[in-house]
Amino acid sequence: MELEQDFKETTFRLRESQIKYKNIVNNSTDAIVVIQDGFLKFINLRGVESTGFSQHEIMNVPFTDLLHPDDRDEALERYHRRMGGKHQPTENIFRIIKKDGSFLWVENRTVKTTWQDRPATLNFLRDISQQKRMEEMMIRSEKMASLGQLSAGLAHELRNPLAVISSCAQFCTENMDLEHLVAENFQVIHRNSQRASKLIKELLAFARPDRLHYKSVDLNQLLEKMLRMAKMEVDPSHITFVKQLDKGLPEIPGDEEKLGQVCLNLIQNAIQAVSGKGNITLGTRWDRTDDPMDPMLELSVADTGPGIPTEHQKHIFDPFFTTKSNGTGLGLSICHAIVEQHHGLISFECGEPGGTRMAVRLPAKKEENDREST
Ligand SMILES: Nc1ncnc2c1ncn2[C@@H]1O[C@H](COP(=O)(O)OP(=O)(O)OP(=O)(O)O)[C@@H](O)[C@H]1O
Ligand SMILES: [Mg+2]
Repeated sequence: MELEQDFKETTFRLRESQIKYKNIVNNSTDAIVVIQDGFLKFINLRGVESTGFSQHEIMNVPFTDLLHPDDRDEALERYHRRMGGKHQPTENIFRIIKKDGSFLWVENRTVKTTWQDRPATLNFLRDISQQKRMEEMMIRSEKMASLGQLSAGLAHELRNPLAVISSCAQFCTENMDLEHLVAENFQVIHRNSQRASKLIKELLAFARPDRLHYKSVDLNQLLEKMLRMAKMEVDPSHITFVKQLDKGLPEIPGDEEKLGQVCLNLIQNAIQAVSGKGNITLGTRWDRTDDPMDPMLELSVADTGPGIPTEHQKHIFDPFFTTKSNGTGLGLSICHAIVEQHHGLISFECGEPGGTRMAVRLPAKKEENDREST
């Protein structure tokens, strides 16, 4: 009788403790994952939520399937070394692919454990995507500032000699009785120096942006207007444009012409990315959960193009970085400069296997001490 009572009590305590630990694991803000023989054997609620897969879809799949292709080899090597008893750092950083194709940066802490009496690893993963994005933006801003300084100096020095070359060539064609071939060559000089002057003007727009002329800007209207402009330059019949515009968006303080240029550059890039056929989604969003003291609005342009290869991602905001035969590579550097001038942030996400989403976050309120200048 006493033995039966004891057994009941032990079973009760065991169940209670099981519930307690299950609660802790499922309410953890970190994703918790057990990997055995290279396969996923356990994942808590947080892990399931952050990947977008269901528990059923994710269980028993090789863990490398959930990693960004560029991080797989290194992670697998680390796993084998750890399981083989070799010393490995407990912490590492990599990217996880979500069900929708986008990815998350995570910081992972791993320990060796046993799972159902066999060796396994226990992993605690924390989403650090936001922190990573901020770090990348800070580095980019610093890089752009020094590139800007260099480009401004260079553009300034080149502007005058180019203007002289151009006007001399023009003078010769207009005022001298030149042989046909010579006249043609002078025209070539004139045309090319004009082209170089235009480039320098664009370079200066990135390197030394003009003052901002603030007024109240309706981002929804601006996006629609720029879309109409962009459509005039291409045959949009095989492109599906989707608008996901937040109707309750407040107007924001900004330079309408410059913000329009940002929208146009992003839409043009998206059109070029889908190369005549695909979907382009224009969006605006007011995240009402934002800090009420510092509200931000987001405008985005997403396309179903090929995405941006990892090795290019670091460079797309660099002046003159282009993968297009007729591109100048200044579009995104100008966008970056304009967004920074507005105290906003520009970022992008690429899906797996393709698609790009460019997002611009702009403050809904003007800074008190804004100087309306560079
Ligand atoms: N939506 C996108 N999809 C894929 N790649 C993109 C996208 N947007 C930009 N890129 C990449 O970034 C590069 C730089 O873009 P950026 O707009 O600065 O210059 P560009 O479009 O090449 O030339 P420009 O805008 O001066 O005509 C592009 O050449 C392309 O490789
Ligand atoms: Mg462009």
